Amino acid sequence: MCGIVAAVARQNCVPVLIEGLRKLEYRGYDSAGLAVLNPGLNRLRSVGRVAELAVQAAGVEAEIGIAHTRWATHGVPSERNAHPHISGGLAVVHNGIIENFAELRAELSAAGYVFQSDTDTEAIAHLLQHTLKAEPDLFAAVRKSMARLSGAYAIAVLKEGERRLIVARHGAPLLLGVTEQGSYAASDASALLQVTRSMVYLEDGDVAELSRDGYRIVTADGHPALRSVTESLLSADAVELGHYRHYMQKEIFEQPEALGNTLEMLGGAGALSPNFFGAEAPRVFDGVRSVLILACGTSYHAGLVARYWIEQIAGLPCSVEIASEYRYRQSVADADTLVVAISQSGETADTLAAVKHAKAQGMLRTLTLCNVPESALIREAALKFLTRAGPEIGVASTKAFTTQLAALALLTLVLAKGRQRLSAADEQTHLAALRHLPVAVKKVLQLEPEIERWARRFANKHHALFLGRGHHYPIALEGALKLKEISYIHAEGYPAGELKHGPLALVDKDMPVVSVAPNDALLEKLKSNLQEVQARGGELYVFADRDSAVEASEGVHVLRLPEHYGLLSPVLHVVPLQLLSYHVALVKGTDVDKPRNLAKSVTVE
Ligand code: G6P
Repeated sequence: MCGIVAAVARQNCVPVLIEGLRKLEYRGYDSAGLAVLNPGLNRLRSVGRVAELAVQAAGVEAEIGIAHTRWATHGVPSERNAHPHISGGLAVVHNGIIENFAELRAELSAAGYVFQSDTDTEAIAHLLQHTLKAEPDLFAAVRKSMARLSGAYAIAVLKEGERRLIVARHGAPLLLGVTEQGSYAASDASALLQVTRSMVYLEDGDVAELSRDGYRIVTADGHPALRSVTESLLSADAVELGHYRHYMQKEIFEQPEALGNTLEMLGGAGALSPNFFGAEAPRVFDGVRSVLILACGTSYHAGLVARYWIEQIAGLPCSVEIASEYRYRQSVADADTLVVAISQSGETADTLAAVKHAKAQGMLRTLTLCNVPESALIREAALKFLTRAGPEIGVASTKAFTTQLAALALLTLVLAKGRQRLSAADEQTHLAALRHLPVAVKKVLQLEPEIERWARRFANKHHALFLGRGHHYPIALEGALKLKEISYIHAEGYPAGELKHGPLALVDKDMPVVSVAPNDALLEKLKSNLQEVQARGGELYVFADRDSAVEASEGVHVLRLPEHYGLLSPVLHVVPLQLLSYHVALVKGTDVDKPRNLAKSVTVE
């Protein structure tokens, strides 16, 4: 979703702005732009890739500037709607949504301001210009204007004649980078690693003034705010592509290492401990009577897998809710429910609002599983668990998903142990399986060449069906989501038992049916479902285990994973589905890492 980079430096900052935008490309966008002072206001915008903006910006030099990648919400992707938006000598970039923009637009139009775009952002630019009439200090004018804005946003502002930038956040991410050469701001740390590792995370309501000599921050009510400087642990290499063709491919292949990092604490631990989830965890977990998981997208699928685990192993009722539904639904609150938010970015607006909604209803036992330290969701919950997958740049989530599953398996086992439902022997068996997980995933990755061959047969299809049962049903959902996200083939995931209640009507020779068929208790049931497909001329692609009793035949293609992995089998079985989508997208020639219309970090509702 929209990305912001801003800089005020002792030397030309245009290369930093462009490189910062490149690093934010993964968030998803459809147009890009920048505004600099040299010394007058100079704005460049383009629909399409940052590379095109870079061509326009070649030769432009300035020591102060703001830049933006836009993911369209109000108004189509076009140069006219691309940021920055201007009012007089003032320019604004913005991430988020201004909910009262229609009201502001009417008011400002009546006051004589002429809107050039369809965006909500332009209302901020005119509002600021209007406020400056009574309050000529830019910093004070931004603070005053913020009181008029409702919604979630982060903004950066510059103005002709000023040697400073003003940035502010309320519900959308923004951080500062501090160096001797200047001050910077961006939507996430990856954009600023090129200049510094020292980051200052702004809090909601903060307004900051940036100059080349430093910065100052005040809270919403105008008090000076002391925000600590955090040294980013992100390695600059972690966001480089290396020898891979795409970030998605790199991230699929990084899964063994990512899982190893997420489960690192198990190396030295002889036993499971609630303290894996923080020092407060024993108190928060004690007396928990049920679990409520809140998430969106792929993270929601991780939650669906965990429901099977938590009910079966920990014996706790578990519900999994799509955050955007839960936040507006009138549900029945229970203070003894453990509320678990799952999010790779930690900034998903709906998940954040859902957790706040749960807390407002008295559910204070909250835990966030997240891949980004210092994110809004990490700060919102009583407990946190970092998945340590490393930066995930590909929009389609892969290593973030499998590390979420690892974290959820750990949570399940810790809850089960706390409830005396885990024998000492079972605890050791599960611990050994978790420790072995990176090796097991590595073996699955070796299936890539065969999956690549299968992928060629999918590229000319328009629809596909993914089937699974039990805790592999959410894996079928995830496989379908991956395929539709990056190859634009319409795909649906179904519990195999539901096949005859609708989707069977769609099955013919042009509809590939992918089946997740591990060697578990439901295999025989699943095989009956597969026969239903075969009998209707459907082409089956079956991901079985080494010892699953499923044989290849006419119209039935079988690939076998090296071992059956019990509880953690979903972690292994999602990997070939990720590879399948990746290779189908390659054959189709789509933009694998930046699929059309999608965003990595969904900071609007
Ligand atoms: C977007 C991303 C998905 C992600 C979902 C939820 O749709 O493209 O990959 O699963 O948001 O995001 P979260 O950061 O909360 O996991």
